[in-house]
Amino acid sequence: MRKSLQSFGLSLFVVLAFLTIAIGFLFGIDNPIPWIMVAVLIALPYVHKKLLSREFVQWDDKLSVGIGVIDEDHKKLLGLINNLQTAAHYHTGEAFERQALDELVNYTKFHFQREEDLMQANGYADFPSHKLQHEAMILEVGKMLEAYKTDRARTIEKLCQFLKKWLINHIAGTDQAYAPYLHEKGVH
Ligand code: FEO
Repeated sequence: MRKSLQSFGLSLFVVLAFLTIAIGFLFGIDNPIPWIMVAVLIALPYVHKKLLSREFVQWDDKLSVGIGVIDEDHKKLLGLINNLQTAAHYHTGEAFERQALDELVNYTKFHFQREEDLMQANGYADFPSHKLQHEAMILEVGKMLEAYKTDRARTIEKLCQFLKKWLINHIAGTDQAYAPYLHEKGVH
C-alpha cells in the first residue's frame, strides 16, 4: 500500500510538473519557473535510481571474515536478500516471492550449520552464544513467515528490513569476532 501511494504521488508530481511547465511558458520563454521544473524532471530519474539503490545491500570487503567459504556464503546471502527486496519492490507476484523466501531461508540455515560446525570443530569458546543468536534469528524469521500468510505485502517489506540490518550487524560483529581465533587454528 505504501509503495502504491509513493507511485501515485510520483505520477501526480510528474503530471503537475508538466502542467506547470506548459502554463509557465505561456508567461514567456524567459520565465524561470518552467525551466526550474524542466531541470527537476531531468534530475528525477537519477534521484529515483539513487534512492532505489539504497534499498539493496552490497558486499563490502570490510565485512570479510578472512575465511573463503564463509565470505562466499555471506555474499550469497546478501544476493538472496536482494532477490527478496526485488520481489517486494517490484511486486513480482507470490510465486517469485515464495521462491525467493524459500531460497533465503534454506541457505541461511545451511550457512548457520556450516559456520557452527566450523566453530565447534575448532573449540571456539563463544560457540554456544553465537549459536543462540542464529537460533533467535531463525525464530524471528519464522514468526514473520507466519505473518506473511495473512499480510504478504507488509510482511515482505518488514522481513527485508529486518534481514538486511540483522545480517550486516551480525557479520560485522559476532561473525568477525571468531575470525582471529579460527585464523590461528589455520582456518582461512
Ligand atoms: Fe555468518 Fe553467524 O552467521
